[in-house]
Amino acid sequence: MPNFAYINNSFIKFNNAKIHIEDRGLQFADSVYEVIAVLNGNLIDLDFHLKRLNYSLKELDIKYKFNKKEFKEIFLKILKKNKTSNGIIYLQITRGTQYREHKYENNLTPTLIIYTRNKKFNIPGKNFKGVNAITYEDLRWKRRDIKTVNLLPNIIAANKAKKMNAYEAILLQNGKVTEGTSSNIWIIKKNNLITHQANSDILKGVTRTSLLKIIKKTSLKLFEKSFSYKELLQADEVFLTSSGSFITPILKIDQKKINNGKIGNITLKLAEMYSKSCIHG
Ligand code: PDD
Repeated sequence: MPNFAYINNSFIKFNNAKIHIEDRGLQFADSVYEVIAVLNGNLIDLDFHLKRLNYSLKELDIKYKFNKKEFKEIFLKILKKNKTSNGIIYLQITRGTQYREHKYENNLTPTLIIYTRNKKFNIPGKNFKGVNAITYEDLRWKRRDIKTVNLLPNIIAANKAKKMNAYEAILLQNGKVTEGTSSNIWIIKKNNLITHQANSDILKGVTRTSLLKIIKKTSLKLFEKSFSYKELLQADEVFLTSSGSFITPILKIDQKKINNGKIGNITLKLAEMYSKSCIHG
């Protein structure tokens, strides 16, 4: 358990950190969040996370004025207080507290919640591992580009995966892959790398954005477009990306082995390039 959380303007002992029962985050999931990876004390892709946070706040008209520099100071302080050098920073901003009513008042003070968790990342080396996945129907709303805590469909699918001893559920909409419950999905066929285009059907992952920059340095041909369940199962290699899992190979989907159940060379190379960029910037 971490030592401290940061609630609104102060650091509080983790066990004493509380929010109001009429906070709209609790009542309506009227709230946005970010999960930021911390590797060897470095905040990974911080600018992309803050840019997306700003986007989510704006799209939902949550009036939180933030300052990048201030956030960075709070992050560095809480990492130090919690002795976290490898793990994640969780940040949530709710619209604030109000008598329960769907319509919101315009003058609410948003609630800010920040804390950290220690975590070991799946990065190339002797413990680099691939995972199994299942597929599941994408039951979500039509604004998946906003990173809200409104995650019940993701939770249902993720727990179906858990029951099947799988790491992730890959979500399908009309026979096409959108993304994972908490990750973006990529397939490789010959020299082609395919991932869903960034529109309101998926969350535009920060790891995805970073990897797109890295791919420009390779000879891979990138296609940002949707792909079918059949293409998924027939891919040479499949992997997922997220701030919690970095680049993680997928070796089996719905009991069908991908690349004979082995980590593919291209996935490994991309994972190496990505983790190097995290360490060296
Ligand atoms: N999830 N798609 C969904 C639905 C996600 O929830 C996430 C991240 C991603 C990958 O985004 P990024 O690369 O920015 O982490 C894609 C976080 C890690 C979570 O909910 O814990």
